[in-house]
Amino acid sequence: MKKSIKTFLKHPTKDFSNRSANPPVTRASTILFDTMQELYEHEKKIKKHKKISHYSYGRYGSSTTIELENILKELEQAFHVFLTGTGFGGVALAVMSLCRPGDEILVSDNVYGPTKEICEKLLKEFYVKAKFYNPDSFEDLKKKVSNKTKMILVENPGSNTFEFQDLSKIVELAKKRNILTFLDNTWGTPLYLKPLKLGFDMSFSSATKYFSGHSDAMGGSLAVNKKVFDKIMFFYKLSGYRMSADEAYLIIRGLRTLDTRLDQHYKNTKQVIDFLKKQKKVKEILYPYKPSSKNYKLWKKYYAGATGLLSIVIKSKKKASVIKFVNSLKLFGIGYSWGGFESLAILQELSSSKKDDYIQGRQYYRFAKDEHIVRLHIGLEDPKDLINDLKHCLRYIK
Ligand SMILES: Cc1ncc(COP(=O)(O)O)c(C=O)c1O
Repeated sequence: MKKSIKTFLKHPTKDFSNRSANPPVTRASTILFDTMQELYEHEKKIKKHKKISHYSYGRYGSSTTIELENILKELEQAFHVFLTGTGFGGVALAVMSLCRPGDEILVSDNVYGPTKEICEKLLKEFYVKAKFYNPDSFEDLKKKVSNKTKMILVENPGSNTFEFQDLSKIVELAKKRNILTFLDNTWGTPLYLKPLKLGFDMSFSSATKYFSGHSDAMGGSLAVNKKVFDKIMFFYKLSGYRMSADEAYLIIRGLRTLDTRLDQHYKNTKQVIDFLKKQKKVKEILYPYKPSSKNYKLWKKYYAGATGLLSIVIKSKKKASVIKFVNSLKLFGIGYSWGGFESLAILQELSSSKKDDYIQGRQYYRFAKDEHIVRLHIGLEDPKDLINDLKHCLRYIK
């Protein structure tokens, strides 16, 4: 019987030895075999990518990480899922596995800052050139493709500014030119968008965010198709990337409620936006909340839902007053990351003029100097309380 994904996520893991609804946390370096023959046979099975319940050595994972791989494989409709200790590790794994000296990588200008830094600074050390394209212009992307382009790296929507791109067009172009494609899908999660089904070669999520959902675990998930599997496995094994059994357990636990949490994040976000859109001090809301909002059509074309991360644009000559607004919020914590149960706020400085400030700087940036971007993560608190908090603090903006 075909089950819905909601039911699949609730399906208990059968831990036969402990009779628990959850998998055991198997911390392992050594994994024991009865005979040398059994060890050899098992390694052959792993090489042939057969279904296994344990690896041959803890460096590749344990039964707990395999449990998580299997859940994510189903969610992503993937050939394989590589788990890493942080989300960032998953990005590094993809580019370091596949880009080689002389190659070029085309990167959307609005990707997560450290992703930009890997592509531009780290890959440069290996003679791989990064070119950044305007996420609002498919023409710009097309123009920058060359015979050397090995990979197109997209984040959708873009970090902090939330541009949505026409994903099928990118895949179509890449396939014609034999270019590999990577999508950072952390915002949408595979519940709302399945990049591999769209034709991307790699679908990445920082599991630190909505997968875990409780701000207490870190991890990365790189779901791949068959085409890139061998190359990435080669690098994965030799680089020592892995996720611990404890983090895998926490992420499995988080995934049980992914659908329910995302539903609630969305409901709360809609209520908060209903308030924000009436505020004079908020110039723009960067989120696909109404048909006339920027990129709404592209969101609607590809996504089955929206989540709780957005930005608001505040126009003010007094940046200190915007900082005061953020500092004064009582229910929104100030800090990095997002996707947990709690609300967060952070002022993002994206218009940096320092040329090598990749964490912040953008080549394609449509906002003026006196337009400040405050990123909000709308958590699972009562939205009425969040609205009251925002209402109280918006008055500090001058
Ligand atoms: C869109 C996006 N991708 C990747 C990452 C990196 O994930 P992690 O913090 O788990 O290393 C982040 C982190 O904030 C992110 O926002």
